[in-house]
Amino acid sequence: MVRVLFVCLGNICRSPMAEAVFRHKVKEAGLEDKIFVDSAGTGHWHVGQPPHEGTRRILTEHKIDYTGVTARQIGTKDLEEFDYIIAMDKENVRHLKQLAPHEHQSKIVRLLEFLPGSDTLNVPDPYYSGNFEYVYKLINESCDHLLDYIRQREHL
Ligand code: 4NP
Repeated sequence: MVRVLFVCLGNICRSPMAEAVFRHKVKEAGLEDKIFVDSAGTGHWHVGQPPHEGTRRILTEHKIDYTGVTARQIGTKDLEEFDYIIAMDKENVRHLKQLAPHEHQSKIVRLLEFLPGSDTLNVPDPYYSGNFEYVYKLINESCDHLLDYIRQREHL
């Protein structure tokens, strides 16, 4: 099983959106037995909460299931157990790199590194901007490329 973890700050806006979108694509590709998808936040404030209303609205609009998606905080075990740790912005990367032992540092990348020609590498936080539709567009396109990348690399 290949394990993919999306990480943002609060785990209620961006990373749960990426988790649900990526899982949807994994299912469509018939790979749900091969790729496990989860998300976590670097912060602890929203642990146990469902995704933000804006994320829920966007996912519902796009007919993407988010059943069971609940906020949790990242732990050191995650850095060992997941194969791909996909951060939303450079602050998440900084936090994760502090947490990760040397041998796991290279697993930590930003989602927008997978989006060809992107003029930013940071997914803007809709918790502040309110622009959930734009964030969905970035996440949706990047997740297509991320899935292609993982399939090639893992021979799936
Ligand atoms: P997220 O957005 O990292 O995309 O889940 C945020 C959610 C909550 C907070 C910050 C960002 N907060 O400060 O509570």
